[in-house]
Parts: sequence; C-alpha cells; structure tokens
Amino acid sequence: MIDPFAAPPRLPLVAPSILAADFARLGEDCRDALDRGGDLLHVDIMDGHFVPNLSMGPAVCEAARKACPDAFLDVHLMVTDPDDFVDPFIKAGANLISFHIEVREGSAARELIRRIHGEGLRAGIALNPDTPAERIMPFVDIVDLVVVMSVFPGFGGQAFIPEVLSKADLIRPAMRADQRLEIDGGIGPQTAPQAIEAGFDLLVAGSAVFGRSGDDRTRAIGAIRDGTGVGVGR
Ligand code: DX5
Ligand code: ZN
Repeated sequence: MIDPFAAPPRLPLVAPSILAADFARLGEDCRDALDRGGDLLHVDIMDGHFVPNLSMGPAVCEAARKACPDAFLDVHLMVTDPDDFVDPFIKAGANLISFHIEVREGSAARELIRRIHGEGLRAGIALNPDTPAERIMPFVDIVDLVVVMSVFPGFGGQAFIPEVLSKADLIRPAMRADQRLEIDGGIGPQTAPQAIEAGFDLLVAGSAVFGRSGDDRTRAIGAIRDGTGVGVGR
C-alpha cells in the first residue's frame, strides 16, 4: 500500500475517484486504476441532503476494499451528519475519513477528528468552493488532510473552478511535511498543472481517470501527476 502520509512522500499523488468507475465491474475498475498508476482510491459518499445527490454506502466501500486489499481508501463524507458514518466506514475498510467544515466546526469538529484518530485512521477536513480558507485554519494542525473542493460537491464531471487555487496560499504554509493538501473536482491533465503549481499534492480525479480505459487511462494518470497535460484533454 502507498501510504500518502509516509515521508518522504512521492509527490504529487493521484487519487482516482471511484464515483466515476463502472459500478457493474467496480472491483476490476478499481484494480485497473491502481495498476495504471493511481496511488490510492477516493471514495465519495453523498447523502442527498448536504449535497443534492446519492452515491454509495459502506457496502460499496467494503466491496472496493475486498477487491483492493492493499489500497489506501480516502473516504470523503459529503453528508450532514458525519458522526453517524464514521463507524460504518471504518468497518468498511476506510483508511482516512474526511468531513466538511460546513457541517462541523468548533468543538464538534475537534471531537470528530479525535474520534477518527482514536480509531487509528487518518482524518481530513473539506471545504466547499464558497467557504473561505480562513474557516479551516483552526483545524489545520490537527488533521492529516485538507480537502479544497474545486467544484460544488454532488456530481462528478463538473468544470474546475480556478478561483479556489489561491486558498493554498493561506493553507499550505501552515501545513507540515506529513500532511497533505488535496484538491477535488474537475482535475485532469489540463487542470492538474495549475493545482500542482499552487501547492496541492494530492489530486483527486474521477472522470479524467475512469472516463478513459487502457493505455489512455495510464497516460492520463501519468499526465496528471507530472503536470504535463498538453494534448491529453481534461
Ligand atoms: C464531487 C466529488 C469529487 C468527484 C470528482 O462531489 O467530491 O470527488 O468525484 O469527480 P471529477 O474528477 O469527475 O470532477
Ligand atoms: Zn470527493
């Protein structure tokens, strides 16, 4: 397993988002994305309340875990009540759980991070495109991962919002070498170079990875990581 927090890390890391995988052959598609250069898997959980869509529950996460026993599973909770889903996703094989600052702040956020760490997992905190970076600063030193959303969460395949890149100017200098700054939404070979340049070191890519197959998928993952996107399309 590639531990995204191990030092010295191989940077930047690419996290294919299984939201865009072929659910009818999920295990095979997940393994393929890792075999073709994906470093870890990003698992998007939507509750139809915090975001206007439903995606998958713990059973699907467990299926990905069974298919890829050695993969690092980065579970992104886009839900109103993250506390309710920590235990089910731990049981389903998550290695990291992130939740949104828009639903938990102050002592509730601290307590949730403590709980996730207490179970031996990594913890992350995510912020929507219209949430100022200042709001997550009180939590940066106690999480492993900060997730900057570069689309409004809820759907894969949306257009990248470049205005969020400047959030890294505030967040990155406050982070240690054993923490990661993730960007999530609209990342592909064409947009990854800007994100890497801005200081992001964990790049989530759904449709740009799972929307391709074979050597084309291998090339796309390589181009996202290397920041050499020209000619590969989003
Ligand atoms: C958005 C999700 C993203 C999404 C990324 O709600 O949090 O992780 O799957 O998909 P693409 O890369 O297609 O924008
Ligand atoms: Zn996500």
